[in-house]
Amino acid sequence: MDFELSEDQQMLQQAAREFAQSELVERAAEADRTEEFVADSIRLCGEMGFLGMSVPEEYGGSALGALGAVLVLTEINKACAATGTTVSVHNSLACESIVRFGSDELKQRYLPKLATGEMLGGYALSEAGSGSDAGSLVCKATQDGDDWILDGTKLWISHGSVCDLVVVFARTDADAGNKGITAFLVESAWEGYKPGKKEVKMGLRGSPTVELHLDKMRVPGSNVLGEVNRGFGIAMGLLDGGRIGIAGQGLGISEACLEAAVKFAGEREQFGKPIAAFGAVQEKIAEMATKLEAARLLTYRAASLKDAGKPHGREASMAKLEASRASNYCAKEALQIHGGAGYTRDFPVERYFRDARVTEIYEGTTEIQKLVIARSYLRP
Ligand code: CAA
Repeated sequence: MDFELSEDQQMLQQAAREFAQSELVERAAEADRTEEFVADSIRLCGEMGFLGMSVPEEYGGSALGALGAVLVLTEINKACAATGTTVSVHNSLACESIVRFGSDELKQRYLPKLATGEMLGGYALSEAGSGSDAGSLVCKATQDGDDWILDGTKLWISHGSVCDLVVVFARTDADAGNKGITAFLVESAWEGYKPGKKEVKMGLRGSPTVELHLDKMRVPGSNVLGEVNRGFGIAMGLLDGGRIGIAGQGLGISEACLEAAVKFAGEREQFGKPIAAFGAVQEKIAEMATKLEAARLLTYRAASLKDAGKPHGREASMAKLEASRASNYCAKEALQIHGGAGYTRDFPVERYFRDARVTEIYEGTTEIQKLVIARSYLRP
């Protein structure tokens, strides 16, 4: 078993690190303050090829694979988690929906634009009454000739107010439970696409999360992904990949917290010496680093399985479970090491603490990851 990244992977990691540290860090603090979408950061990610990480080269993508994407997402999230969420959802849930389930026509029409960032992609699964129980969604799609008419409201849609193309899951059979859901590709420019209330959030403030009203929206039949009534499996299959992306976010936030904590502990003096000299602080650093590295191994393993075309749902949930918990642990301890200073906006750990929180909630809560993992043993 090889625990070393290849030379190419190390170069990718280094390039992403230099880019993120020079271009994203300051913009992250600004977006957190203004709550404005990190549009410039996303444009720059597009220039780096980071919006086409899951898109094959023949469609203009950088085709970095799941492990390559984790390396990039770790660096992006270490600098700016709002940018990280946008890049992750765009790649793993939107682009990948077309790569895996789209017709040739849909691939040709959308992938080249998504790969450069000319179009930004989103994912609309959740609704007011269907969060963890995603299969109970009620947003309706009714057939009208070759077209479908979508009607209903989706909730918690990341960058739904600024994206161009969204994978929308809607009910096409009222009586068939999760066997009556279909995946549609919807352009935000089409009539009937109406972003609603923007949530006022604790963290990820540079990533607008909105309600999305689909008001009798006409969607051509050619924009159905996969087969009618088979959308729930598509939603779940995409989330297997998405959860690896969010695990990458957990790694990035954890790394940022660890680095901030080490730096502060080396500079801050109490009782005549740097607080890094105290066992209580060393114990925190050791726990943070170990949780980070354990989560990293799980995340790289899940990504490697995906790249090898092997089943990876259980491993993706394990990676997301551990990496999201590591980021919350690291953020809590980094803030504690900073003491009162960490509780102010003078230091970024306060933002890391707020940004980390949602990693245990979106793309499946910690509790849902445990359900997926347990079921994989109990119902193999
Ligand atoms: N891949 C493919 N198919 C899958 C699958 C997977 N990973 N998981 C389940 N399925 C299939 C099953 O095989 C089953 O098919 P059959 O009936 O043909 O056998 C079908 O789906 C139903 O499976 P379950 O019985 O397991 O379904 P369930 O209703 O019990 O729900 C769940 C399972 C794991 C709880 C699921 O609802 C879930 O993951 N909930 C969390 C939802 C979630 O993560 N939402 C995130 C929103 S998106 C987001 O946050 C993005 C963002 O903006 C950041």
